[in-house]
Amino acid sequence: MTIEMEPSMNLVEAIKQRRAARAFKSDPIPDGLLQAILELGVRSPSGYNLQPWRFIVVREQQNKEKLKACAFNQRQVGEAPVVLICCGDRRAANSENIEAVIHLAEERGVMTDSYAEYMRSSIPQFFANHPSFGTMEAWTNRHTMLAVAHMMIVAKSYGVDSCPMEGFVTSQVKEAFQIPEEVDVCCLLALGYADEPFKQYGGRFGIEQVCFGESYGESFRLS
Ligand SMILES: Cc1cc2nc3c(=O)[nH]c(=O)nc-3n(C[C@H](O)[C@H](O)[C@H](O)COP(=O)(O)O)c2cc1C
Repeated sequence: MTIEMEPSMNLVEAIKQRRAARAFKSDPIPDGLLQAILELGVRSPSGYNLQPWRFIVVREQQNKEKLKACAFNQRQVGEAPVVLICCGDRRAANSENIEAVIHLAEERGVMTDSYAEYMRSSIPQFFANHPSFGTMEAWTNRHTMLAVAHMMIVAKSYGVDSCPMEGFVTSQVKEAFQIPEEVDVCCLLALGYADEPFKQYGGRFGIEQVCFGESYGESFRLS
């Protein structure tokens, strides 16, 4: 991947200035820019590097209208030049994908035989016991949302606005876009250039409200 464009703002500014845009101009996102957003988005980490995220890139107006109808008619879906249907494929835990991940690292010369064997034996056990998640959908969502977060920040750093959305009917989206049964729809992500009325920053709880020190409920202090 070669990304030649320079971001228009740094990471801190991108995080601070990102808003969930509710209205978009019709201006298209240049392909090179969309490629950068997608490629940097999927640099996101994943458990065992299994990369279960999958993205349907919706750009045709008729398909955006179809998606909008599955998303409580939210205007962003019809207006944004690009809407991603952000999915997670539960089959990423299968041996076929484990082998693909091993192969990926082998191609880069960073996989050892012993680590490959460790992956082949420990990953199936992990998914049989799944000590850190209740359902496979929780697992696919955990990973997909992280890639989505990367994309939103990368997009903003290049001047592209976004809106993550959970306001949609999963069964309708799956049927309308031929999404297999084993694939979960995590969220929609509208991407484009925000239009007025611009959304204002609604504030965040302070870290003293959302961070605890050492155990849950204990206050956290910085000196
Ligand atoms: C998982 C998730 C789902 C969301 N769903 C919607 C949605 O369906 N429609 C919408 O307009 N905004 C949606 N939002 C955007 C939030 O309303 C927004 O992030 C929040 O109000 C904070 O505003 P800000 O992101 O501009 O700071 C969603 C955000 C997240 C993270």
